[in-house]
Amino acid sequence: MALWSGRFSEKTDELVARYTESISYDRRLYPFDIAGSKAHAEMLAKQGIIPQEDADAIIKGLDAVLAEIESGTFSFKEELEDIHMNIESRLTELIGQPGARLHTGRSRNDQIATDERLFMRHEAQEITKQLQALQKALLALADKYSDVIMPGFTHTQHAQPVLFAHHLLAYIEMFGRDCERIGDCAKRLNRLPLGAGAIAGSTLPLDRQFTAEKLGFSEVLRNSMDAVGDRDYIVEFLSCLAIIVMHISRLAEDIVIWFSQEFAFIELGDAFTTGSSLMPQKKNPDVAELARGKTGRVYGHLMAILTTMKGLPLTYNRDMQEDKEGLFDSIDTVKLSLATMAAMLGTLKPRVERMRQAASDPSLMATDLAEWLVRHGVPFREAHRQVGKFVGFCAAHEMPLDQATLEQMKSCIPNAEPECLQIFNPEHSVAARTPIGGTAPENVRQQIEYWKNRFA
Ligand code: ARG
Repeated sequence: MALWSGRFSEKTDELVARYTESISYDRRLYPFDIAGSKAHAEMLAKQGIIPQEDADAIIKGLDAVLAEIESGTFSFKEELEDIHMNIESRLTELIGQPGARLHTGRSRNDQIATDERLFMRHEAQEITKQLQALQKALLALADKYSDVIMPGFTHTQHAQPVLFAHHLLAYIEMFGRDCERIGDCAKRLNRLPLGAGAIAGSTLPLDRQFTAEKLGFSEVLRNSMDAVGDRDYIVEFLSCLAIIVMHISRLAEDIVIWFSQEFAFIELGDAFTTGSSLMPQKKNPDVAELARGKTGRVYGHLMAILTTMKGLPLTYNRDMQEDKEGLFDSIDTVKLSLATMAAMLGTLKPRVERMRQAASDPSLMATDLAEWLVRHGVPFREAHRQVGKFVGFCAAHEMPLDQATLEQMKSCIPNAEPECLQIFNPEHSVAARTPIGGTAPENVRQQIEYWKNRFA
C-alpha cells in the first residue's frame, strides 16, 4: 500500500505502477537517502519536534535497513515506487510507531534533491580521482619517452616537429581543467535542499543549518521553491562530463590514427586490443573506438535533461524523475572509460623510429627557415613569402627542401646563407622552441616535473 494512499479508494492501476516507479534504478541512492534521514531525525529530536527515543530508534532502524540492503536481503517493492518509500516502509516494519515520525517536516521533493546532491558530491570525488589516474598514465608515458620526436599535426597534416611528451602533456592539461570544472561544480552541489518541504518550507521549527552541518553541506539553499524545483546541478554536472568525454574521445581518436597501418606510430598490448571473427590478421583498437563512441550517449543525456527541464513551471513536477537514469549512465560510462583508457595507456609503446622518420620531412622545418630570416632582419610576411616560393620551387623539382643547393635556395631567398641548409633537423627545431609553452625538451622536462609534484 502506497504511503500516500489515504485519500484514494481505488488501487493504483498495474500500468501506472510500472510507469511511475523509479525503484528499479534509484535504489542506488540508498546510502545517501539513509544518511539524509539520519541527519533529519537527529535535527527533529534536537528541536523537540520528535522525542529523542524515537530519533534513536529511527537511527538504529535505518542502520538495520542499511545492513539489509548491503547484505542483499532487502526486498525492493515496485508498489512502493521509489527508494524513499521503500526505506521508510521497511523502517516502520522494523521499529513500529517511531518510524511514522521520520517524514515530519520533509517531502520526497526535498529528499530526492538532497539524495542526488550527496550522491553527486561523492561521485565528483570519484571521477576526479579517475581523471588523475588517467593523467598519471599519460605522465608516465611522457616521462618514459621524454625525448621521442614526432610530427605535430594541424588539419591532420604534418605541421612541425614536436616531442611525443609535449603531445601527451596537452591532454594532461585538458584533463586537469576537467578536474577543476568538476570541483567548481561540486561547490554549487554542496548546498542543502532538505527542509524545503514539498514547496513552501515548514510550519515546524526546523534547524536546517544543523542538518547541513551533519551532512557536510557548506550552505543551506535559501529558497524552498528553488530547492525542490531546479535540476541545474544535474545539467551542470552532465556538462562537465560531456567535456570530459569530448577530451577522452579526442585522445581515443589520436590513438586510433596512430595505431593504423598508415601511421604505425604506436603499439598497443594484446590485452587491450581485440581481433576479428573473420580476418585472422586483425588487431583492432576497440577500446579507443568505444571510448570515442560512448561520447554520444553522454551528450545525449545532457540534451535529455536540458529538454526535460526547459518547459517546467515551478516547482517540482514528476517529469523531473527522468533526471536519474541519464545521470547514472553518464557517470558509469565516464568512470569506465577513464579507467579503461588509463589501463590501455599502460600498454602503449611509441614506435620511435617511425615517429622520428615522419618528423624528418624537411618541409616541417619551413617555419624554422622563415624565423631564421626574421632573426636576420627580414619582416616575417616577406620571409614567409620567400620560403613559400622556395617550397614551391622544390615541389616543382620533386626535391626535398634539404636537397637544394645554396644557389637554388638563394634564387628564392636572396639572404640565404650556408647555415640555412643545416636548419632541416627535427632535434634542432624542437630544441629551439624555448619560450614558455613551446616544445623544447627543457620546457617539457619542466612540465613533467611540475605534474609529478602536483601528484606527489
Ligand atoms: N521519485 C521521485 C523523483 O525522483 C521522488 C520525488 C517524488 N515526489 C512526488 N511528489 N511524487 O522525482
